[in-house]
Amino acid sequence: MAIIDEYVKSHPKSKELHERALDHFAARGATHVGRMWEPFGPYMTHAQGSRIWDVDGREYIEFRNGHGALILGHGHPAIVKAIQDQVTKGSLYGASHELEIEWAELIKGMVPTAERVEFFACGQEANMMGIRIARAFTGRRKVLRFEENFHGWADELVAPHALGVVSSGVRVIPAHDVQALEEELATGQYAIVLTEGGGAHMAGQVPWEPGFIRAVGSMAKRYGTIWLLDEVVTGFRDGPGGWGGLMGLQPDLTTLGKCVAGGMPAGVLTGRADIMGMLTPRPPPQRWIPHSGTWNAMPIVCAAGIAACKLLKDGSVQRRVNELGAYMRGAGNRALKQRGYNWRLYGRSIIHTYFGPVDFEVDEAGNPPTRDIEMMLAGTEEKHKLGVYLLQHGIHTHQGTMFILSIAHTKEDIDKAVDALVKAIGEAMADGAIGESPSLR
Ligand SMILES: Cc1ncc(COP(=O)(O)O)c(C=O)c1O
Repeated sequence: MAIIDEYVKSHPKSKELHERALDHFAARGATHVGRMWEPFGPYMTHAQGSRIWDVDGREYIEFRNGHGALILGHGHPAIVKAIQDQVTKGSLYGASHELEIEWAELIKGMVPTAERVEFFACGQEANMMGIRIARAFTGRRKVLRFEENFHGWADELVAPHALGVVSSGVRVIPAHDVQALEEELATGQYAIVLTEGGGAHMAGQVPWEPGFIRAVGSMAKRYGTIWLLDEVVTGFRDGPGGWGGLMGLQPDLTTLGKCVAGGMPAGVLTGRADIMGMLTPRPPPQRWIPHSGTWNAMPIVCAAGIAACKLLKDGSVQRRVNELGAYMRGAGNRALKQRGYNWRLYGRSIIHTYFGPVDFEVDEAGNPPTRDIEMMLAGTEEKHKLGVYLLQHGIHTHQGTMFILSIAHTKEDIDKAVDALVKAIGEAMADGAIGESPSLR
């Protein structure tokens, strides 16, 4: 484990902070399950553009980008200015203000199906309200979801039998099983079906078959179930209309998060006016859903969201980031094949790593030839190890599983990342940290 030893030696301050954190944060010192590294992650001090620095003074090319929220890169001047200008005028009014209307108008101009808009503190809250509204609107209780699709950690959004979860009425079925989908929906018991934009895990680590996602929409309509497309990652990352816009989809409800607020915490629920009308007060005996939330439409968040949406609304940022993604796939896959490594890169502006038994070609749109969950998620353990090797080469990734791109990246950044990737795989294999074939989940 020569490189891991080198990593530990060259990150003494991060090691010290990790040891301090172990006394406070029960999840092995981390504040998010995705921030748990083995042996420990770097503790960051500052970030700018496509770079991030740690307490040991090491610089990394940044491919994590705030869990995908920072398509504009770190510290984009328009976002910094918007937040600075607003914070001097008040960060939280606890009252209505014009910025919330302006942000909603921008969002409605970008999402064709957005007739009404509701703001939340984060993406999962928007999904939770989507479920409640659908139940109220349909008079039904059950929730249909797909394997590996991630929508947050609340009871109805995680695996139904996860520890500590009370979530009666949630059914999770395999993706791409049209028969199972129809059998469930035909029971007439489902209030809502949720799908993740792009596919399971961060814009499509396991991508959707286009025909299947369209079948979800048409079958949900046929059986009176509300269809929610969760674009918390893909909304405004894949284009001004999100992934749904690229695919020409017409979901009843759409949720947004991450990029929509320019890196500030927020969630958005949008969709049909009749369904969203469940939030409208009505005289008794009719009922309606009151929505509270201290942080809803917080002025500094709205200011950042407005600045971000203005930059994202004509699609040029997303086109550039997608071009960088295509460049990375091309250069990366050429280099990996040349060395005979059974690793591949795929995806659009979030580039996923694949480690598996098959040698495959990625299509023009960035899709792998298979949607097999086991195959696409194989080797997660090895990818996490690779993430540490990449750190030692100055590359900060989503723990080796993905490279999240932003407008701040250059082709030179990507060339360096590809070079580091092939070197890191070679070193990890030489150290015995990674074998010839992946471990299964
Ligand atoms: C597809 C998807 N939906 C919902 C969420 C939850 O968003 P948040 O972390 O803002 O609550 C995430 C978070 O990564 C996500 O990837």
